[in-house]
Amino acid sequence: MSSFKTIEWKDGKVVMIDQRRLPGEEVYVECSSYEDVAKCIKEMVIRGAPAIGVAAAMGIALGAVDSAQNKEGFFFESLKKVLEVISKTRPTAVNLFWAVKRMNGVIESNRDKSPTEISGLLVEEAKNICEEDIQICKDLGKNGSKLITTGMSVMTHCNAGGLATAGYGTALGVIRAAVKDGKGIKVIANETRPILQGARLTAWELERDGIPVTLITDSMAGYVMSKGMVDAVVVGADRIAANGDVANKIGTYSLSILAKSHRIPFYVAAPVSTIDFGCPTGDLIPIEQRDVKEVTHIGDKRIAADVDVFNPAFDITPAENVDAIITEIGVYEKPYEESLASMNE
Ligand code: MRU
Repeated sequence: MSSFKTIEWKDGKVVMIDQRRLPGEEVYVECSSYEDVAKCIKEMVIRGAPAIGVAAAMGIALGAVDSAQNKEGFFFESLKKVLEVISKTRPTAVNLFWAVKRMNGVIESNRDKSPTEISGLLVEEAKNICEEDIQICKDLGKNGSKLITTGMSVMTHCNAGGLATAGYGTALGVIRAAVKDGKGIKVIANETRPILQGARLTAWELERDGIPVTLITDSMAGYVMSKGMVDAVVVGADRIAANGDVANKIGTYSLSILAKSHRIPFYVAAPVSTIDFGCPTGDLIPIEQRDVKEVTHIGDKRIAADVDVFNPAFDITPAENVDAIITEIGVYEKPYEESLASMNE
């Protein structure tokens, strides 16, 4: 387990570590309304697909408690608004929509109950989603560890760790499990421009948990691979299409091509909730475009010339570049249309 709390339900509030301020400061933000949670997701106080799902569920629970207390006469209308606001926070990670759907399922199947009862059930469901995520990542980690051999050097991109989940991680879950299995591995973390989730978050959480990590800039990945310094690449995912195409942090696609060209296995680790069976191929996955200031500025300091800027937050790695998709229920291989579909049989 990681040695920090990404998010928790505490005394009727949602408390999350402020990931914008890491690694410099370990500060926790307290949300007492669903609007607070929505703002935190949008502004990336909390980020990473499974963690966004947990935050969405807890935000809905906060909104439900408030609606039951203060808007009892129009409880369901008020809840509808809560779901809408939470759904509009970030577009790519499907875990957010998965969590909204799951919370909505609780609302729909309990419409005959009182607002207080329904809000209580929603709080329980949000807590369950959080706890389940930890177990899911541990199971996923165990499955993925079988692909990692002793002494391997594993490259990862962005942060798919405890910070991106309820506390264990997907890609870093595989790494944590391999370490636990005594495999003595080391990690190469790509810094992940523009907002440096690799340098700030992955490096921080691995260092803190005593897992050997070397940080490189994104543009060093090809050189490092060409020197035989990488034995496997393991990344997370924000959404996986039914054909196995993977949306993940910008730069993942380039890494997959580099890995292919150097014959290095390229693995994606994600919970089943990241697979969008309603989305046939990766080109249908909405790609979030973020503020250009993420590219032109570091903090308040401008580092770029004043020109047009493009800032897509994610890219699509074609299924053919992915050697295996590691989930909590097993490891899936090509052809993904068939192997992923078998999950629903
Ligand atoms: O923009 P972010 O930081 O939310 O993007 C996160 C990623 O791309 C992660 O790799 C992905 O969500 C997997 S997290 C287990």
